[in-house]
Amino acid sequence: MPQPHLRTVVVLAAGEGKRMKSTLPKVLHPLLGRTLLGHVLSAAAPLAATRTVVVVGHGADQVRGHLSEVAPDATPVLQAEQLGTGHAVRIALEAVPDGPGTVVVINGDVPLLRPETVGALVTAHEEAAAAATVLAAEVPDPTGLGRIVRDADGRLEQIVEERDADATQRAIREINAGIYAFDAARLRAALGKLSTDNDQGEEYLTDVFGLLRSAGEPVAVHVAVDHVETLGCNDRVELATLRRLLRDRVNEAWMRTGVSLLDPATTWIDVTVAIDRDAVVDQNTQLRGATVVGSGALIGPDVTLVDTIVGPGASVVRSHAVGAEVGAGASVGPYAYLRPAAQLAEKAKVGTFVEVKNSQIGAGSKVPHLTYVGDATIGEQSNIGAASVFVNYDGVNKHRTVIGSHARTGADNMFVAPVEVGDGAYTAAGSVIVDDVPAGAMGVARARQRNIEGWVVKRRAGTAAAEAAQRAHGGEGASGVAATASDSEAMHGQAETVGGASATGDTATE
Ligand code: UD1
Ligand code: MG
Repeated sequence: MPQPHLRTVVVLAAGEGKRMKSTLPKVLHPLLGRTLLGHVLSAAAPLAATRTVVVVGHGADQVRGHLSEVAPDATPVLQAEQLGTGHAVRIALEAVPDGPGTVVVINGDVPLLRPETVGALVTAHEEAAAAATVLAAEVPDPTGLGRIVRDADGRLEQIVEERDADATQRAIREINAGIYAFDAARLRAALGKLSTDNDQGEEYLTDVFGLLRSAGEPVAVHVAVDHVETLGCNDRVELATLRRLLRDRVNEAWMRTGVSLLDPATTWIDVTVAIDRDAVVDQNTQLRGATVVGSGALIGPDVTLVDTIVGPGASVVRSHAVGAEVGAGASVGPYAYLRPAAQLAEKAKVGTFVEVKNSQIGAGSKVPHLTYVGDATIGEQSNIGAASVFVNYDGVNKHRTVIGSHARTGADNMFVAPVEVGDGAYTAAGSVIVDDVPAGAMGVARARQRNIEGWVVKRRAGTAAAEAAQRAHGGEGASGVAATASDSEAMHGQAETVGGASATGDTATE
């Protein structure tokens, strides 16, 4: 069996990225779920390198902090002054033990690079036992990039930066993608010989190719099939272009695995998201971070899901969710806001203008309208009346509300936590529930209604309301209207009439 090659990956990320005009180092700008640097590291991951070195400089602390999160095994190496790409690689190699093998160098700002492409470059390089191999691409507009200069036999002669190129060289549309494989020993030797005799007075990594070639060493060009993968990012306009290109790539891949995207142009899916087949994603939807969408789920239109898990067959319409879990067959929206640790069990419902935070909503339970549920546990098959508030915050501490299973709470309730409503309990509409409601009880917590008969005719005489009242009473004056039992008895009667559910407002909020 052939010996596996020892590989070292060096990512160049010390540059400022001046044209981004940002306090954030260029390589930390986000692009559909990863930073530019994160994309490069993930493209290099399958190379199974013995070590990965990231050259940091501008914003070094920020870049180091990011690396410790996304690539804790990578070694950051500081290049205090940016004296060129050759200098950067020299510093990187000084930080690692000398030894045989392949050194793969990748510019930190080529986020569309695919693992297959860098893998093919490295394999071709190792199989040919080349001293150095550069990834090249034929591009429509080579402006600003290094040109691949070949000799009469088509072999690589040198790489020339645009600013150092003559007119003939500038006409070349085959460019250096900034991704290379080198034989470690020969790279080290060549790096020691780099000059700064160029327009920028920098040590160019690209000069290694000319040096090796002059020394009679085999240097090679590996041409990328799709030049889009080699696109760099220098300003925010290019970043937006890369984002669109990556969106299309990601969307196409999901459609090919059996996910329906009704409007791919307005669907933005982070590379970190997972979607099962037969999910349908409607227009203007963003799926971000660690979001997972189950099979047959319907997402959108107008939905943003961040780090949210949606079960099979669930639906989420015109809603925003962060760190939430939506169970199988559950339904969310339109216009719901699920905040971290909002957990909906199977077939639960969170409806319109409902906000849920750090709460468990049991199987089949419904919170249909205009409600805030914070720090609550709701059992199974319960119904929360419209316009209710789970009053979880006393100004200093947060408290929990527990609602049992098969409970039916009335419209416009306040649950002043800590408080519990037992299994099968009801509460009356308009109640401020401050005391526990035992299982099966009806909790009523509101002032009784009092009707002052004839008030309008007496106190608002001459108004349209007073005239209407008079007509309703057959033209009699206020004094002629007798009080009926309804003003007191009907109110008392609510507990008795609750079988019809109207007293709790429950029917109105199913
Ligand atoms: C470089 C190549 C060019 C190629 C292009 C592809 C050289 C001399 N030229 O040009 O042939 O077509 O990339 O995008 O290499 N960096 C450091 N330390 C430094 C200088 C740069 O870490 O001292 C990093 C940058 O952060 C960046 C990468 O190296 O990630 C490339 O540097 P950049 O200045 O963008 O080089 P280009 O001029 O684009
Ligand atoms: Mg560049």
